Amino acid sequence: MTAISPSTVAAVAVPRHVAIIMDGNGRWAKRRLLPRALGHRQGAEAVRRIVQACVDLGVQYLTLYAFSSENWKRPTDEVEDLMGLLRHYLRNEVAELNRNNVRLRIIGERRGLAPDVVALVNESEGLTRNNTGLTLVLALNYGAQAEIAAAVRAIAAKVQAGVMPLEAINEQAVADHLLTVGIPDPDLIIRTSGEQRLSNFLLWQAAYAELVFVDCLWPDFDKAQLVEAIETFGRRERRFGGRG
Ligand code: FPP
Repeated sequence: MTAISPSTVAAVAVPRHVAIIMDGNGRWAKRRLLPRALGHRQGAEAVRRIVQACVDLGVQYLTLYAFSSENWKRPTDEVEDLMGLLRHYLRNEVAELNRNNVRLRIIGERRGLAPDVVALVNESEGLTRNNTGLTLVLALNYGAQAEIAAAVRAIAAKVQAGVMPLEAINEQAVADHLLTVGIPDPDLIIRTSGEQRLSNFLLWQAAYAELVFVDCLWPDFDKAQLVEAIETFGRRERRFGGRG
């Protein structure tokens, strides 16, 4: 963990990995009698802000829940709005991310995404592959239960093929077959908008994460709110099952 610079807040350790469930775009728009699409557009602005804040604060990994595997249940026009924002983000922000030494990684089921989105995702990951600053992980068409089921399937296939002994199945082996392989577990998971649940996000990886729920709607979330959540995190005692 690195320390937040004294100009922002005194002597608080910055979590290595922050993961965020970005919730409340729809309510943000509704309160202003605006179409939901505008809430999502402001949500994309908040994404830009928070990525920059994480770069400034020295966070090493930021995972954002951009589109869940359950979000397909939304009306087609809303799904299209979200995919449009994603395309826009990948087309227009990746050069800036690259300049900021940000490495982009996408987790989720690529099958099911439009071919041009998959192409953009692959290009963006390729372009930023060797960057060494913040790793920005976008969870896109992501569902934790499906991720765990796929890991179990992959392990079972190896056991069946005789290339993995049954006794080798342990926590590390499961983690090594998840989409997040190589990414440390989140230290802090933030959910905006006052809802208090994980909604199929990083269920395995969240085992010892500190959960911070904030009332602020995602489009209003800014660096000050992020620092506040990090301060709350800093006041928690993490025991990982031990006695502290
Ligand atoms: C939840 O708000 C948010 C989403 C389902 C999607 C998050 C998407 C963005 C922040 C914009 C695009 C992302 C990127 C990476 C450019 P909600 O619609 O469920 O809000 P509500 O609960 O108030 O209705």
